[in-house]
Formats: sequence, C-alpha cells, structure tokens
Amino acid sequence: MTLRSVITGSGSALPKRAVSNAEMAEMVDTSDEWIVERTGIRNRYIAGDGETTSSLATEAARRAIEAAGIEAASIDLIVLATATPDQTFPATATIVQHNLGCNGGIAFDVAAVCSGFLYAMATADSMLRTGMARRALVIGAETFSRILDWDDRATCVLFGDGAGAMVLEARDVDPADPAAPGLLGSRLHADGAHNQLLYVDGGVSTTQSVGKLRMKGREVFRHAVTNLASVLQEVLGQSGHTAADIDWVVPHQANYRILDATARKLGLPAEKVVVTVDRHANTSAASVPLAYDTAVRDGRIQPGQLVMFEAMGGGFTWGAALARV
Ligand code: COA
Repeated sequence: MTLRSVITGSGSALPKRAVSNAEMAEMVDTSDEWIVERTGIRNRYIAGDGETTSSLATEAARRAIEAAGIEAASIDLIVLATATPDQTFPATATIVQHNLGCNGGIAFDVAAVCSGFLYAMATADSMLRTGMARRALVIGAETFSRILDWDDRATCVLFGDGAGAMVLEARDVDPADPAAPGLLGSRLHADGAHNQLLYVDGGVSTTQSVGKLRMKGREVFRHAVTNLASVLQEVLGQSGHTAADIDWVVPHQANYRILDATARKLGLPAEKVVVTVDRHANTSAASVPLAYDTAVRDGRIQPGQLVMFEAMGGGFTWGAALARV
C-alpha cells in the first residue's frame, strides 16, 4: 500500500456581477469581435464591494467541503494560491481558516500567479504524503480586477475574478491497481529571466503601492505553448501514461488559442479539453480549480477518469499534475 492524495471534493465561487464584452467596449476601445477572435472570452465576473479574495475563497471552500462530505473542523492544512491577497500579511489562507472554523492546523499562501494552484496542489500533496497533514484544502482565489489598468485595453479585457477549491485527503491505496485514485505525478518549473513579460509594476518593498498588471501578450503566448507542452510530456513520462490515456485536460484558462495550440501539440482532441475561458476569462490561480469544479458539476468529469491539470503564469512559472479522480 502507498499513501496518495485523493481529490474528494471540489467547489467554486464567482462574484455576483457578470461583465460582457459589450460592457467592456463601453469602457475601452475594443469590441466583442476582437476579444472573442483573439481569446475566446465572452464574459468575466468582477468583484464588487464586500467581495474579496478571502470571501470568494471561503465560499468555494465551503462547497468543496460539502461535496467531500466532511466536517470543516477536520481540515488540518490550507494552501491558498493567490496574487491578490486581502492584506499584505497575514496570509489569506489564515482568514479562510478562521471563516471555516478549522483554526489550529497549517495555513499559508503560495505566490506563483497563474500557476499558483499547481504549486499549491503539489505542496499539499507532498505534505499529505509525508504525514504532516491528513486532510487539505487547496484553494486558488483572485480579485485580479483590483490590479488591472482599466485604461489598458490589451490587458483589462483578459482577466476576471473568482475562486476554486479542492479537498485532498491522504489515503492508503494499492499502487498496482490502475483504478486506484489520487495524484499520480506533478512537475513544477520557474524561470525568473522573464519577469518583465508579465508582472505588476508595484509592491511593498519597491513602491509601497499595489501596482497594476503589465504584460507583453505576444511573447507570453509563445512561451506558454512551448512550456506547457513540455511539462505535460514530463508528467506523462513520470507516471508512465501516454496522451491517449488522458480523459480530460483541465488547463489554466488564459486564452482559447493557447489551450487549443497546447492540446494540438500533444495530439489531444479538442473534446478532451475543459474550456471555461469563454465564461470566466483568466482568473489566474483560480482558473484551474474553477474549471475543474465546473466540469465535475456539469457531469463532464466522472469518477475514475484520468485528468491532467496544467498552468503557466508570471515569473514565468509553470506546472502540470495528473490525477485519477
Ligand atoms: N481590443 C482591440 N484591439 C486591441 C485590444 C483590444 N482589447 N488589445 C490590443 N489590441 C490591438 C493592439 O493595439 C494591436 O494594434 P496595432 O496592430 O494597431 O498595434 C493589435 O490589437 C494586435 O495586438 P497584439 O498584442 O499583437 O495582439 P495579439 O494577436 O498578440 O493578441 C493577446 C493579444 C493578449 C490576446 C495575445 O497576445 C495573448 O493572448 N497572449 C497571451 C496572454 C495571456 O494569456 N497571458 C496570461 C498568461 S497567464
């Protein structure tokens, strides 16, 4: 028998206010046609007064806990991925922990921008398999609308707010059983040489301000497809699977063209790729668990299936993970 991290529940949350491309065109010089053609985005959700990264994270976490059928008090680890925390410190994970009433365990944030959920998942997985915790909440939550430059049409149309969460539980499984559930492999990477292609132009230690998101979209696009295709192959190699074994890919929802180009590079049919970027836009660290939860709840992803998660973001950082759900 071997200890594996098994996904036992998922949940997600969105702000109340949906903003269409037509509404964006009233704010900046853009059009529904341009946004749909270049990105596949049709809609995004924008947090209003009182909606914060921690409030969205808490709502997503509650739904994941309910889906897992467990008591919130039994959670002994929270890893929350975000680039838009409620406060500079303490970690947003500790606010969520208190909201859920599971005080006393481990709780911390992970900063890897759009790859944050993959980083959080791999961290929680390591801690569960070494016995530091038994029951983890892994959350991706963002209010990116608050670091967007609403005068920059090249970036403000691309992002949205939201949260997604998963309960991961340490379970003893028979590794020889191909149907045994759990995380089968994961790989993470970072290359700090590309800071200036996707970054926020402010921060505590430099400007003492929050700053705004800046991006060279075309260059990011090029790196994303190459890095994602490569890390997906690494995870397949690590777990002894091939692309043909994958039932679903749940990618970071940045841009439909990136999802499509990455799937093509691996020879994966478009029908196996979960796409929610049209509805949610790019929600950074929230996008992978938000897309996963959407596809679980609408019945696309079924128990026993093999699911590949992947993301790439500022840093650059990128990663992938394979799980039997
Ligand atoms: N509406 C209308 N026109 C726009 C626009 C908008 N919202 N944003 C940019 N444009 C214009 C530009 O000004 C430019 O005009 P010009 O040719 O007159 O100078 C033209 O469209 C092309 O801009 P460019 O940036 O070269 O477009 P692109 O084909 O590279 O598409 C992105 C832009 C951002 C959609 C694309 O590069 C992309 O998706 N990159 C990846 C970004 C990403 O996903 N980042 C997050 C990773 S975590």
